[in-house]
Amino acid sequence: MGIMKNMNRAALLISFLVASLTAVSSSMVQAQDLPAGKGKELVENTCGSCHGLDVVVAQHATKDGWASIVDYMVSRGASGTPEEIATIVDYLAKNFPAAATKTNVNKATAMDLQTQLELTAKDSEAIVKYRTDHGDFKDWDGLAKVPGIDTAKLTAKKDSIVFTE
Ligand code: HEC
Repeated sequence: MGIMKNMNRAALLISFLVASLTAVSSSMVQAQDLPAGKGKELVENTCGSCHGLDVVVAQHATKDGWASIVDYMVSRGASGTPEEIATIVDYLAKNFPAAATKTNVNKATAMDLQTQLELTAKDSEAIVKYRTDHGDFKDWDGLAKVPGIDTAKLTAKKDSIVFTE
């Protein structure tokens, strides 16, 4: 009798351990917090069943890129109405956009500076003229020295600016 009792205990302990491990692993999947926004729950419910959401958040793409990824997932078995799929694509494109391209201020034309860094035409031309007169910019301080430019606006784009390829 004593042995049976111990075996029951062991079985109980094992099933308890299995249950808590399962609980831990499913809460880990949920802990992959997606940014709030329209489509969050849809993505959680539609995209987390075959693989973890970590696979999804590791990806960055343009809207077209996300549309083809989601199409491909639908062909693998992901399901949703056309509206749901469109919402999912919008959500992913907004929250996991393609990595922005950097602007090399030593190669950029005035037009590049204007379109990529959203500087004014006047500031863009001032930067190109200064570069032509003084040679390539070595670093941020050199760039910020260009007379007359709106440095606050430039500073807002600091992360998008590089000085070499
Ligand atoms: C029916 C199962 C299934 C569902 C549901 C699913 N996927 Fe996938 N997904 C896969 C498989 C299988 C792979 C990996 C194999 C492959 O690349 O062909 C994958 C891979 C991925 C990848 C990695 C691609 C790469 O190139 O590394 C991304 C990103 C992705 N899925 C996004 C999503 C999104 C977003 C959704 C929700 C709309 C989704 N998945 C829903 C099956 C699924």
